[in-house]
Amino acid sequence: MNKQVKKTDPKIAKPKGRMLDAVAMAEVETMLGSMPRRRDMVIEALHRLQDRQGALHARHLKALATCFRLAEAEIFEVASFYHHFDIVKDGENAPAALTIRVCDSLSCMMAGAEELIGKIETLVDPSAVRVVRAPCIGRCAQAPAALAGRREVDHATAEGLLALAQAGETSPQIPAYRDLDAYRTDGGYQLLADCLSGKHTPEEIIALLSDSGLRGLGGAGFPSGRKWSIVRSYPAPRLMTINGDEGEPGTFKDRSYLEHDPHRMLEGALIAAWAVGCDRIYLYMRDEYPAVLQLLHTEIARLDAAGFTQQVGIELRRGAGAYICGEESAMIESIEGKRGLPRHRPPYIAEQGLFGRPTLNHNIETLFWVRDIVQKGPQWFAAQGVRGHKGMRSFSVSGRVNNPGVKLAPAGVTARELIEDYCGGMREGHRFTGYLPGGASGGLLPASLADEPLDFGTLDQYGCFVGSHAVVILSDHDDPKAVALNLLRFFELESCGQCTPCRSGTQMLVRMMEQGDWNPALMRDLDQVMRDASICGLGQAASNPVRSVLRFFLEETVS
Ligand SMILES: Cc1cc2nc3c(=O)[nH]c(=O)nc-3n(C[C@H](O)[C@H](O)[C@H](O)COP(=O)(O)O)c2cc1C
Ligand code: SF4
Repeated sequence: MNKQVKKTDPKIAKPKGRMLDAVAMAEVETMLGSMPRRRDMVIEALHRLQDRQGALHARHLKALATCFRLAEAEIFEVASFYHHFDIVKDGENAPAALTIRVCDSLSCMMAGAEELIGKIETLVDPSAVRVVRAPCIGRCAQAPAALAGRREVDHATAEGLLALAQAGETSPQIPAYRDLDAYRTDGGYQLLADCLSGKHTPEEIIALLSDSGLRGLGGAGFPSGRKWSIVRSYPAPRLMTINGDEGEPGTFKDRSYLEHDPHRMLEGALIAAWAVGCDRIYLYMRDEYPAVLQLLHTEIARLDAAGFTQQVGIELRRGAGAYICGEESAMIESIEGKRGLPRHRPPYIAEQGLFGRPTLNHNIETLFWVRDIVQKGPQWFAAQGVRGHKGMRSFSVSGRVNNPGVKLAPAGVTARELIEDYCGGMREGHRFTGYLPGGASGGLLPASLADEPLDFGTLDQYGCFVGSHAVVILSDHDDPKAVALNLLRFFELESCGQCTPCRSGTQMLVRMMEQGDWNPALMRDLDQVMRDASICGLGQAASNPVRSVLRFFLEETVS
């Protein structure tokens, strides 16, 4: 994001004084069709306009404001916040018909994204194809990755992208997945039926979940059973949100589960909503996963038709390219049709979340495990851990290993075990030198600490954390300083700009690193103020890579 500081950004320049255009109004009314003109539908409406027109024309935004009875500024501030919206001012040309987004986050950079971007830019006709850099698109195991329109492209090459563009093959490719019929054949939704018919009680299911040790797998690791009890303790009406934003660079496990077995998560969500007493579920899915969005759309409609959502409906909401919307209160703002600005706490969303109601929010993978935990028993899940840790974890492993991908491993596994036992060792010609234990925000550790158990809290002493369990393996081909710069550029871009320590701190760290100015005293000062004075986890953890590089790779040796 960080668009608040870009005062000269043409996307937010001077919307004032435009006359309402009757033709534009009629066009917008037609494009919106029967869509409700409610505030929380603003982002869906912006998608509708952009999908139809290829961009957001200023005259349409003015008309949209009138349709939604909002100030023009409110529409512009939302449209200009999200990376995936393109505002075209009166008299300006719309962007090229096709946008190719090439991921330039860490794993893709390590796999040659810079060269790819340079090459594709020389090959395409810029009047027909626009090439833009994209923050992580969650395909790190197939780096370098890109999106050609809505087509996800693995191991992207300039020639391959050009061929797709020329052939017009830019729609999502839906993977082979277990659909509703197949899931039901395997006993799917029987547990939900048993819950609804009174064979189980909410208290019993919550107790099972607590006994299993299941923790939130979106990054924070909060005990799930306890969360259900807390939300349930607040007065109804309550709501539920599902966090499918998966924007942490290096993380792709949620996508993988949804691409194979979406109903396992959906059934888990319906059971959670029943146990906690939530009236409605809002599923927030990132726009970088077009195939997942499409298959969820299909499968939720099938669930509706089969009557599974009569008690609790599921509403699919499409993100618009903003990492910060993975932070739960920012996600809630986004579902409400606003900019994704994290809220101050308290109140926590458990008490006052979506539309001011007590809200249960979960990561996709957390919900994915609910059915298995109830049916196989809490001990089955708890017993999967090693070295005293409970449960299993889905590690998204990428970088310099032979077989990157989602690795289902016990909580407490080590990075060395992941490399050797799950990923077929290091790639030929690469010597293991370090790793990211938890995506962009979890810090960096040297190879000498590869035998530490990986789980929530185990890396605190090193100033690192496992977060969403995105492990990126580095080798002697990777410069830790360049790695830290790549990660800080990501945070600079994605900071919502709301608080100064985060907004300015990320900018200053990036400028210093770009100039090769690794001044430990100043960097530590910045790190401290960002940690102490930022509203949300983005600003509080953004300087972790810098601190790790200072501690483990530049100044001190680890004994
Ligand atoms: C900057 C930031 C980004 C986040 N991104 C995600 C995300 O993409 N997906 C997710 O599930 N949780 C994300 N979280 C964590 C959520 O705020 C929240 O803890 C989580 O969705 C709770 O679900 P769980 O208990 O099932 O983990 C993020 C947190 C922060 C601070
Ligand atoms: S720390 Fe502050 S500026 Fe940074 S993303 Fe969070 S709320 Fe926005």
